[in-house]
Amino acid sequence: MPRVVADPEAYFRILAPERMEAELDLALQAHERGVPVIGPVMGRLLELLCRVMGAGRVLELGTAVGYSTLFLGRAMRDARGLLLSVDMHEAHCREARGNLEREGLGDSCLVVCADARTLPLGKGNFDLVFLDVDQRYYLELEPVCHALLRPGGLLVADNTSFVDAHAFNVLLRDGGRFDAVNLFAFLPNHAPEQDGICLARKK
Ligand SMILES: C[S@@+](CC[C@H](N)C(=O)[O-])C[C@H]1O[C@@H](n2cnc3c(N)ncnc32)[C@H](O)[C@@H]1O
Repeated sequence: MPRVVADPEAYFRILAPERMEAELDLALQAHERGVPVIGPVMGRLLELLCRVMGAGRVLELGTAVGYSTLFLGRAMRDARGLLLSVDMHEAHCREARGNLEREGLGDSCLVVCADARTLPLGKGNFDLVFLDVDQRYYLELEPVCHALLRPGGLLVADNTSFVDAHAFNVLLRDGGRFDAVNLFAFLPNHAPEQDGICLARKK
């Protein structure tokens, strides 16, 4: 009879990727300010998804200090692509730009200060959009993400177990514009550690 490990959370915490110094620094910076960041498992997942897709144009909504940007930016650097990362707070943008520059990712990442709800919806054509702003805005941002993704592009939404993401989750499932799966996951060092993530392909 196959058996599951006795304490899955402890076990998967051990298996979480080791954090590089830059990741730890940024996570600490964010923690000191009470800014939640995605953690190493979600970071590696985003990096992996970009690489598997051969993504060259990535959009991030919600930069904060640039922790998640680090993972997406590394994939863009190696693909000679570009990451556009948007945050509504100028102080966050300034800080993230400095952090990315220090990691040699300044040429691969453009950090722009804007409210994601007001982005121009022209020719987005992004391969992947990572949505990680306040969940109160998720529903309003569904059309923005949809317009800015290319057909077949991937939307990754973080924190979908939050109550404020409910209407967005239902729209993604029933709206007919995406093929979506919503996962309740254990993501070591995420905030909170058990959270939901939605992966959705634009039809
Ligand atoms: C959870 S933090 C992002 C964390 C980051 N993705 C990481 O894991 O390192 C959310 C960020 O979204 C920004 N934000 C919230 N609402 C926004 C909006 N409507 N447009 C742009 N940025 C927004 C906040 O300023 C904050 O920095």
